[in-house]
Amino acid sequence: MNAIILYDALTSGGSTDRIIDAIGEELVKKGVYVEKAKTPPRADYGFLDEFELVIIASPVYNFNLSPNLVAAFAQSNLSESLKGKKIATFLVCGGPELTAEFLYMPQLSLRLIGQNIVAQKIFGLTEKSNPQSPITFANEIYQKVFAELPL
Ligand SMILES: Cc1cc2nc3c(=O)[nH]c(=O)nc-3n(C[C@H](O)[C@H](O)[C@H](O)COP(=O)(O)O)c2cc1C
Repeated sequence: MNAIILYDALTSGGSTDRIIDAIGEELVKKGVYVEKAKTPPRADYGFLDEFELVIIASPVYNFNLSPNLVAAFAQSNLSESLKGKKIATFLVCGGPELTAEFLYMPQLSLRLIGQNIVAQKIFGLTEKSNPQSPITFANEIYQKVFAELPL
């Protein structure tokens, strides 16, 4: 059981980092090997081949996803490398979750058309301040991806 969290944030030690760490720690507790990596625009994402689950995380700045993540989708083999992978996504923003569902989540979903998305979550105004939210999301991901694997 392994997973990688792909993310980009303009801050270090901000909400995105904190939520990534909480999700990662919960998956590790359940026996999943977890790595995290940033998303430079021109990297070779062939290494995703090694992972069963890819979690893609982006904060929202100025109504947009993180610029490096957007550029990675446009300029690298990220989309190609995600084919056949189980994918979970989450956004981190300052506004209400409902607004984010219509304004920001489609920006990510459109870039993942045809991919196997197993779980999605928005950590906005309400969810960001609930320390239990990332743990619940990690459990949802675990159930969907790993819990029913044959031994
Ligand atoms: C420059 C800037 C622009 C932002 N723009 C938006 C926005 O358009 N919509 C929104 O919901 N939140 C916005 N936010 C709030 C961030 O999404 C929120 O603070 C999030 O936690 C940032 O992630 P980070 O803490 O990992 O950097 C903005 C924050 C900053 C600093």
